[in-house]
Amino acid sequence: MKNFVNSCFYGVSDSTEFFRGVQQALKELAPYGIFCGDNLFTIGRNLGFLDDAVFMSIFERNTHNADPKQQEIERTVLWRTHVLTWAARSCLKFEGDFVECACYKGTSAKIICEYLDFNNTGKHYYLYDLFEHEEGMDHHSMPAHGSSLYQQVQQRFAEHPNVHVIQGSVPEALLLKAPEKIAFMHLDINSAAAEIGALEILFDRIVPGGMLVLDDYGWLAYSAQKQAEDPFFAKHGLRVLELPTGQGLVVKFR
Ligand SMILES: C[S@@+](CC[C@H](N)C(=O)[O-])C[C@H]1O[C@@H](n2cnc3c(N)ncnc32)[C@H](O)[C@@H]1O
Repeated sequence: MKNFVNSCFYGVSDSTEFFRGVQQALKELAPYGIFCGDNLFTIGRNLGFLDDAVFMSIFERNTHNADPKQQEIERTVLWRTHVLTWAARSCLKFEGDFVECACYKGTSAKIICEYLDFNNTGKHYYLYDLFEHEEGMDHHSMPAHGSSLYQQVQQRFAEHPNVHVIQGSVPEALLLKAPEKIAFMHLDINSAAAEIGALEILFDRIVPGGMLVLDDYGWLAYSAQKQAEDPFFAKHGLRVLELPTGQGLVVKFR
Protein backbone atom coordinates (compact mmCIF):
# COMPACT_ATOMS: atom_id res chain seq x y z
CA MET A 1 0.00 0.00 0.00
CA LYS A 2 1.34 3.42 -1.01
CA ASN A 3 1.52 6.68 0.91
CA PHE A 4 1.91 10.25 -0.30
CA VAL A 5 3.92 12.57 1.94
CA ASN A 6 4.44 16.18 0.85
CA SER A 7 5.66 19.10 2.95
CA CYS A 8 3.37 21.81 1.56
CA PHE A 9 0.93 23.13 4.19
CA TYR A 10 -0.41 26.70 4.10
CA GLY A 11 -0.73 29.03 7.09
CA VAL A 12 1.76 27.20 9.33
CA SER A 13 3.56 29.67 11.61
CA ASP A 14 6.23 27.32 13.03
CA SER A 15 6.96 24.74 10.37
CA THR A 16 9.67 22.93 12.41
CA GLU A 17 7.20 22.32 15.24
CA PHE A 18 4.41 21.47 12.79
CA PHE A 19 6.45 18.84 10.93
CA ARG A 20 7.73 17.39 14.21
CA GLY A 21 4.07 16.75 15.02
CA VAL A 22 3.47 15.27 11.56
CA GLN A 23 6.48 12.94 11.94
CA GLN A 24 5.24 11.88 15.37
CA ALA A 25 1.76 11.12 13.99
CA LEU A 26 3.29 9.09 11.14
CA LYS A 27 5.31 7.09 13.69
CA GLU A 28 2.43 6.51 16.09
CA LEU A 29 -0.23 5.51 13.56
CA ALA A 30 -0.25 2.46 11.35
CA PRO A 31 1.58 3.90 8.34
CA TYR A 32 -1.00 2.95 5.76
CA GLY A 33 -3.14 5.02 3.44
CA ILE A 34 -1.47 8.26 4.40
CA PHE A 35 -1.98 11.37 2.32
CA CYS A 36 -0.05 14.27 3.79
CA GLY A 37 0.07 17.65 2.05
CA ASP A 38 -2.15 20.47 0.72
CA ASN A 39 -3.51 20.96 4.29
CA LEU A 40 -4.88 17.43 4.21
CA PHE A 41 -3.82 14.53 6.43
CA THR A 42 -5.50 11.14 6.04
CA ILE A 43 -4.80 7.76 7.58
CA GLY A 44 -6.11 4.40 6.43
CA ARG A 45 -7.48 5.49 3.05
CA ASN A 46 -7.33 3.50 -0.18
CA LEU A 47 -5.78 6.38 -2.17
CA GLY A 48 -6.50 4.41 -5.34
CA PHE A 49 -5.07 7.16 -7.57
CA LEU A 50 -1.56 6.29 -6.28
CA ASP A 51 -1.98 2.89 -7.97
CA ASP A 52 -3.00 4.45 -11.31
CA ALA A 53 0.42 4.23 -13.00
CA VAL A 54 -0.69 6.19 -16.08
CA PHE A 55 -2.11 9.06 -14.00
CA MET A 56 0.92 9.15 -11.68
CA SER A 57 3.43 9.23 -14.51
CA ILE A 58 1.53 12.02 -16.33
CA PHE A 59 1.19 13.94 -13.05
CA GLU A 60 4.88 13.60 -12.15
CA ARG A 61 6.08 14.56 -15.64
CA ASN A 62 3.91 17.69 -15.69
CA THR A 63 4.76 18.86 -12.17
CA HIS A 64 8.52 18.41 -12.46
CA ASN A 65 10.36 21.56 -11.34
CA ALA A 66 14.11 22.08 -11.03
CA ASP A 67 13.48 23.96 -7.77
CA PRO A 68 12.58 21.30 -5.13
CA LYS A 69 10.45 23.77 -3.13
CA GLN A 70 8.40 24.73 -6.20
CA GLN A 71 8.06 21.04 -7.08
CA GLU A 72 6.60 20.33 -3.62
CA ILE A 73 4.04 23.13 -4.21
CA GLU A 74 3.18 21.79 -7.69
CA ARG A 75 2.85 18.22 -6.43
CA THR A 76 0.87 18.92 -3.28
CA VAL A 77 -2.32 19.17 -5.38
CA LEU A 78 -2.17 15.48 -6.35
CA TRP A 79 -5.59 14.64 -4.82
CA ARG A 80 -7.16 17.79 -6.27
CA THR A 81 -5.80 16.77 -9.68
CA HIS A 82 -7.29 13.29 -9.27
CA VAL A 83 -10.68 14.95 -8.62
CA LEU A 84 -10.27 17.03 -11.79
CA THR A 85 -9.29 14.10 -14.00
CA TRP A 86 -12.16 12.01 -12.58
CA ALA A 87 -14.71 14.78 -13.24
CA ALA A 88 -13.32 15.59 -16.69
CA ARG A 89 -13.35 11.91 -17.71
CA SER A 90 -16.92 11.49 -16.40
CA CYS A 91 -18.01 14.45 -18.56
CA LEU A 92 -16.61 13.07 -21.82
CA LYS A 93 -19.91 11.31 -22.45
CA PHE A 94 -21.82 14.60 -22.47
CA GLU A 95 -22.19 17.05 -25.31
CA GLY A 96 -20.11 20.21 -24.97
CA ASP A 97 -16.58 21.48 -24.47
CA PHE A 98 -14.24 21.95 -21.51
CA VAL A 99 -13.43 25.32 -19.86
CA GLU A 100 -10.90 26.44 -17.27
CA CYS A 101 -10.96 29.91 -15.65
CA ALA A 102 -8.12 30.44 -14.81
CA CYS A 103 -5.30 28.17 -16.04
CA TYR A 104 -2.06 29.89 -14.84
CA LYS A 105 0.73 27.66 -16.29
CA GLY A 106 -1.84 25.23 -17.70
CA THR A 107 -0.65 22.35 -15.51
CA SER A 108 -3.97 20.78 -14.52
CA ALA A 109 -5.40 21.22 -18.05
CA LYS A 110 -2.31 19.61 -19.59
CA ILE A 111 -2.61 16.63 -17.23
CA ILE A 112 -6.29 16.28 -18.18
CA CYS A 113 -5.41 16.47 -21.90
CA GLU A 114 -2.77 13.76 -21.64
CA TYR A 115 -4.77 11.50 -19.32
CA LEU A 116 -7.92 11.68 -21.45
CA ASP A 117 -6.12 11.63 -24.82
CA PHE A 118 -7.97 14.89 -25.40
CA ASN A 119 -6.91 15.25 -29.06
CA ASN A 120 -9.14 12.29 -29.89
CA THR A 121 -12.24 13.35 -27.94
CA GLY A 122 -13.73 15.67 -30.59
CA LYS A 123 -14.03 18.34 -27.88
CA HIS A 124 -12.40 21.72 -27.43
CA TYR A 125 -10.79 23.07 -24.25
CA TYR A 126 -10.90 26.84 -23.53
CA LEU A 127 -8.28 28.13 -21.09
CA TYR A 128 -8.39 31.70 -19.79
CA ASP A 129 -5.93 33.70 -17.72
CA LEU A 130 -4.37 37.15 -17.37
CA PHE A 131 -0.91 35.44 -17.28
CA GLU A 132 0.56 38.65 -15.85
CA HIS A 133 0.36 40.54 -12.62
CA GLU A 134 0.83 44.25 -12.08
CA GLU A 135 0.70 46.32 -8.93
CA GLY A 136 -2.88 47.27 -8.11
CA MET A 137 -4.50 44.27 -9.83
CA ASP A 138 -7.08 42.32 -7.79
CA HIS A 139 -5.37 38.93 -7.99
CA HIS A 140 -2.18 38.06 -6.16
CA SER A 141 1.04 37.57 -8.08
CA MET A 142 2.36 34.05 -8.69
CA PRO A 143 5.97 33.05 -9.48
CA ALA A 144 5.47 32.35 -13.20
CA HIS A 145 3.42 35.49 -13.95
CA GLY A 146 5.10 37.68 -16.55
CA SER A 147 5.08 38.91 -20.12
CA SER A 148 6.20 35.54 -21.56
CA LEU A 149 3.76 33.25 -19.69
CA TYR A 150 0.96 33.49 -22.28
CA GLN A 151 3.37 32.35 -25.02
CA GLN A 152 4.79 29.61 -22.81
CA VAL A 153 1.31 28.22 -22.15
CA GLN A 154 0.45 28.39 -25.87
CA GLN A 155 3.67 26.45 -26.50
CA ARG A 156 2.78 23.91 -23.81
CA PHE A 157 -0.42 23.08 -25.72
CA ALA A 158 1.16 23.20 -29.18
CA GLU A 159 0.45 19.48 -29.64
CA HIS A 160 -3.23 19.97 -28.79
CA PRO A 161 -4.88 21.87 -31.68
CA ASN A 162 -8.26 21.65 -29.91
CA VAL A 163 -7.01 23.62 -26.87
CA HIS A 164 -7.53 27.41 -27.04
CA VAL A 165 -5.40 29.56 -24.73
CA ILE A 166 -7.00 32.98 -24.26
CA GLN A 167 -5.31 35.93 -22.56
CA GLY A 168 -7.71 38.34 -20.89
CA SER A 169 -9.67 39.21 -17.82
CA VAL A 170 -12.57 36.96 -16.82
CA PRO A 171 -15.48 37.58 -17.13
CA GLU A 172 -14.95 40.11 -19.97
CA ALA A 173 -12.80 37.70 -22.05
CA LEU A 174 -15.67 35.17 -22.05
CA LEU A 175 -17.78 37.56 -24.10
CA LEU A 176 -15.22 37.45 -26.91
CA LYS A 177 -14.68 33.70 -27.13
CA ALA A 178 -16.39 30.88 -25.22
CA PRO A 179 -18.16 27.63 -26.11
CA GLU A 180 -21.96 27.50 -26.44
CA LYS A 181 -22.20 24.14 -24.65
CA ILE A 182 -20.00 23.05 -21.76
CA ALA A 183 -19.55 19.52 -20.40
CA PHE A 184 -16.82 20.25 -17.82
CA MET A 185 -15.69 23.47 -16.18
CA HIS A 186 -12.94 24.26 -13.66
CA LEU A 187 -13.13 27.61 -11.86
CA ASP A 188 -9.91 28.67 -10.13
CA ILE A 189 -9.67 32.48 -10.20
CA ASN A 190 -9.26 33.14 -6.44
CA SER A 191 -11.73 36.04 -6.76
CA ALA A 192 -15.41 36.04 -5.80
CA ALA A 193 -16.36 38.81 -8.23
CA ALA A 194 -14.59 37.23 -11.22
CA GLU A 195 -15.98 33.74 -10.45
CA ILE A 196 -19.55 35.02 -10.11
CA GLY A 197 -19.03 36.96 -13.37
CA ALA A 198 -17.90 33.74 -15.07
CA LEU A 199 -20.82 31.77 -13.63
CA GLU A 200 -23.33 34.39 -14.80
CA ILE A 201 -22.11 33.98 -18.36
CA LEU A 202 -21.28 30.26 -18.49
CA PHE A 203 -23.33 28.31 -15.93
CA ASP A 204 -26.43 28.10 -18.13
CA ARG A 205 -24.23 26.65 -20.89
CA ILE A 206 -23.29 23.60 -18.79
CA VAL A 207 -25.28 20.69 -20.19
CA PRO A 208 -27.33 18.28 -18.02
CA GLY A 209 -24.90 15.87 -16.34
CA GLY A 210 -22.03 18.33 -16.80
CA MET A 211 -19.79 19.10 -13.84
CA LEU A 212 -18.16 22.16 -12.35
CA VAL A 213 -15.16 22.00 -9.98
CA LEU A 214 -14.60 25.08 -7.80
CA ASP A 215 -10.96 24.96 -6.73
CA ASP A 216 -11.17 27.33 -3.75
CA TYR A 217 -14.68 26.65 -2.43
CA GLY A 218 -13.71 24.90 0.81
CA TRP A 219 -10.76 27.07 1.79
CA LEU A 220 -11.34 29.50 4.67
CA ALA A 221 -8.88 31.96 3.11
CA TYR A 222 -11.25 32.22 0.13
CA SER A 223 -14.52 32.13 2.06
CA ALA A 224 -15.72 35.21 0.12
CA GLN A 225 -16.10 32.85 -2.85
CA LYS A 226 -18.27 30.38 -0.90
CA GLN A 227 -20.38 33.25 0.45
CA ALA A 228 -20.99 34.58 -3.07
CA GLU A 229 -21.44 31.19 -4.73
CA ASP A 230 -23.85 29.48 -2.32
CA PRO A 231 -26.69 31.95 -3.10
CA PHE A 232 -25.88 31.74 -6.83
CA PHE A 233 -26.30 27.95 -6.83
CA ALA A 234 -29.31 28.10 -4.49
CA LYS A 235 -31.07 30.21 -7.15
CA HIS A 236 -30.46 27.28 -9.51
CA GLY A 237 -31.77 24.77 -6.97
CA LEU A 238 -28.29 23.33 -6.40
CA ARG A 239 -25.86 22.85 -3.52
CA VAL A 240 -22.11 22.56 -3.74
CA LEU A 241 -20.47 19.38 -2.43
CA GLU A 242 -17.49 20.48 -0.32
CA LEU A 243 -14.66 17.98 -0.82
CA PRO A 244 -11.88 17.21 1.69
CA THR A 245 -9.40 18.60 -0.86
CA GLY A 246 -10.88 22.09 -0.41
CA GLN A 247 -12.58 21.92 -3.81
CA GLY A 248 -16.32 22.21 -4.39
CA LEU A 249 -18.19 20.00 -6.85
CA VAL A 250 -21.42 20.91 -8.61
CA VAL A 251 -23.27 18.46 -10.84
CA LYS A 252 -25.77 20.06 -13.19
CA PHE A 253 -28.61 17.57 -12.97
CA ARG A 254 -30.87 19.28 -15.51
C1 LIG B 1 -4.39 29.50 -8.70
S1 LIG B 1 -4.03 30.07 -10.30
C2 LIG B 1 -4.79 28.90 -11.34
C3 LIG B 1 -4.11 27.52 -11.34
C4 LIG B 1 -4.63 26.58 -12.40
N1 LIG B 1 -6.07 26.47 -12.37
C5 LIG B 1 -4.05 25.18 -12.28
O1 LIG B 1 -4.83 24.24 -11.96
O2 LIG B 1 -2.85 24.98 -12.49
C6 LIG B 1 -5.07 31.51 -10.38
C7 LIG B 1 -4.94 32.26 -11.69
O3 LIG B 1 -6.04 33.19 -11.78
C8 LIG B 1 -5.63 34.21 -12.66
N2 LIG B 1 -6.60 35.32 -12.57
C9 LIG B 1 -6.91 36.07 -11.47
N3 LIG B 1 -7.88 36.95 -11.75
C10 LIG B 1 -8.21 36.75 -13.06
C11 LIG B 1 -9.17 37.32 -13.95
N4 LIG B 1 -10.02 38.27 -13.56
N5 LIG B 1 -9.23 36.87 -15.22
C12 LIG B 1 -8.40 35.89 -15.66
N6 LIG B 1 -7.48 35.29 -14.85
C13 LIG B 1 -7.39 35.71 -13.58
C14 LIG B 1 -4.23 34.54 -12.18
O4 LIG B 1 -3.50 35.16 -13.21
C15 LIG B 1 -3.69 33.13 -11.82
O5 LIG B 1 -2.87 32.65 -12.86
